[in-house]
Amino acid sequence: MWYDFQYKDGQYCVEDVPVKDIADKVGTPCYVYSNSALDGDFEVFQDSLEDVDPIICYSVKANSNLAVLRTYARMGVGFDIVSGGELYRVLQAGGDPAKIVFSGVGKTKDEMRTAIEAGILFFNVESFEELIALDEVAKKMGKKAPVSVRVNPDIDPNTHPYISTGLKKSKFGIDIKAAMEVYRSAAQMGGIEVVGVDSHIGSQVFDLDPFTQTIRKLAQFAGELKNEGIEIQYIDIGGGLGINYREEDSPPHPKEYAEIILRETSGLPYKIVLEPGRVLVGNAGVLVTRVLYIKEAPSKKFIVVDAGMNDLLRPALYGAYHQILPADENFGDVESAEVVGPVCETVDVLSSEAELPDVGAGDVLVILSAGAYGFVMSSNYNSRPRSCEVMVYGEQFHIVRERETLNDLVRGELIPDFLK
Ligand code: LLP
Repeated sequence: MWYDFQYKDGQYCVEDVPVKDIADKVGTPCYVYSNSALDGDFEVFQDSLEDVDPIICYSVKANSNLAVLRTYARMGVGFDIVSGGELYRVLQAGGDPAKIVFSGVGKTKDEMRTAIEAGILFFNVESFEELIALDEVAKKMGKKAPVSVRVNPDIDPNTHPYISTGLKKSKFGIDIKAAMEVYRSAAQMGGIEVVGVDSHIGSQVFDLDPFTQTIRKLAQFAGELKNEGIEIQYIDIGGGLGINYREEDSPPHPKEYAEIILRETSGLPYKIVLEPGRVLVGNAGVLVTRVLYIKEAPSKKFIVVDAGMNDLLRPALYGAYHQILPADENFGDVESAEVVGPVCETVDVLSSEAELPDVGAGDVLVILSAGAYGFVMSSNYNSRPRSCEVMVYGEQFHIVRERETLNDLVRGELIPDFLK
């Protein structure tokens, strides 16, 4: 919740811990999550959707730290996964396999096998070829794989093109017009049990209309399946609800999202499955960084910090905006500056439109709303060890992922004999 991130006595705090204390103790850059915000944001989502009574499957890709997953697992939340690696993490965190949905266009047979073994809720199958592979794997195991087909409804979610997934031209899902044929085949397969229909149209969606249209199409499609004698239990609407990155952003409240779901599905006999990611974790984490240098170039002022695009890729990849604040509250005049990282790429910019008071080398800055698609998209580019992750719990903070060491950087690399 917003109140888990605010200035207290002149210091930017996560819950009751000044981020500067964390920076001094564990170094920078460093991701800091608030356990209270994770709980609080989940509760708002869950309470808002009470009347829909969905199965909420947190989308692990948004933030897959074990402590984050454990926070949800303890609350009985389900999980949306896209790889065997994410399945492994969820099981390590004590997640309930019976509440896992498995999406993604490129599942391997190994991943299918492990997921069937674990007893997941269902696979979101994205192509006919994948369905055939899954049928084979399940039959070999003497089991039936529960399946929902991800249909592509050809709907524009009005978000960044890189995170639009429900358009005809996108690689995701099966064209809704061709999907019936796939269902007919699936219903005949010995290793497949048809249980649902699924769609995910995109991420950071602010406009409820594309969701309304998608749910309407899914509900209508489920009715057509019934007419064909194929009865399903689940309609999975995917994730995608947007969050505030700027104060002036006004994403729909989960209650408004609930209203359209209810309106489109009331009276229908299906259990609704949701795969929220960003809306649950996005505003529950920040990236803490330290100023290295101030560089006054003729055209503008650069603030060079110790976090780069390898730590937070969103600005470089999507031109995404993240607000940046000084850890020391400062009421002085603000100045426009470009906050850049140390990576040797022109696009290594964390904010091209930061408005900051006078800061200097050694000062700590806080990059807001970095809980979703932050650490998970980080890399070792430029041989930079990945940052540590910390979780705050009231007045305490705990390292939930250690900073990588130089040794970690070369772990697994070998120099072959002929080079010795
Ligand atoms: N379900 C499926 C099948 C997905 O592909 C995604 C996100 C979600 C659920 C969760 O969506 P959310 O509720 O978080 O919007 N890296 C990008 C976002 C990529 C989203 C990919 N799929 C970013 O930083 O904006």
